[in-house]
Amino acid sequence: MSRDATAAAQQFYGRWADFYDFLARSTPGLGDLRARAADALALDPGDTVVEMGCGTGANFPHLRERVGPTGRVVGVDFTQGMLGRARDRIEREDWRNVHCVRADATEIEFREAPDAILATFVVGMLADPAAEVERWADRLAPGGRLALLDAAQTTRWFGWPVNRAFRGLVVASSPSGTEAYDAPPWTVLDDRVAAARRALRARADETTHSEHALGVVRITGGRVARRGRSARRVQFG
Ligand SMILES: C[S@@+](CC[C@H](N)C(=O)[O-])C[C@H]1O[C@@H](n2cnc3c(N)ncnc32)[C@H](O)[C@@H]1O
Repeated sequence: MSRDATAAAQQFYGRWADFYDFLARSTPGLGDLRARAADALALDPGDTVVEMGCGTGANFPHLRERVGPTGRVVGVDFTQGMLGRARDRIEREDWRNVHCVRADATEIEFREAPDAILATFVVGMLADPAAEVERWADRLAPGGRLALLDAAQTTRWFGWPVNRAFRGLVVASSPSGTEAYDAPPWTVLDDRVAAARRALRARADETTHSEHALGVVRITGGRVARRGRSARRVQFG
């Protein structure tokens, strides 16, 4: 992501953090989709799961429930305002094994390789989502799982009116700068969501895919295959 795009995203999500948190918690059906995305990670008690672009922490309850009190949930986000809501939630719930880190998901390194990585409504914001999926896959522990939950235009036969409404939503929820894209923001989003999934499928030896909300929402998960060498354990400061 360019420096301008990063600044625009941080400004946008920083300004709308409270409203986003309200929508993230109260939109009907969204909790169920988050639970399905967490299921796609096939977490075991004691696992460490990292959520890239965790926002206000709406996925934390689902992840925490699955890793149990001996596991760990680490939320990564680069927008202070969103992380502030996530930290409030952690404090309110008194979750001792849920932590937030302010960092760029395209650059972060881990002291210990996580067992799973989740990104919900995030890859559409990344300039090169396929490269990031590759990068995240490389940082997982052996046999680690990666899951993506995203919205994009539906490909179903009745898609026209649904996509018309969806395009309006994309425009309303896009940080400034997307008007400078070569293509409409919904097309860029579609392409990024598809590219991330292609990259995940290419790296995973067990994949799951499901579509929801009239085909607008996709949940894709997979167990990342090794590339003829053991997965790396990465040190960071
Ligand atoms: C649409 S929100 C999704 C939040 C959360 N995943 C959810 O499902 O509610 C996108 C979030 O990703 C964060 N984000 C986008 N690009 C990022 C990056 N490169 N590094 C860290 N956070 C990023 C934004 O700050 C924002 O909080």
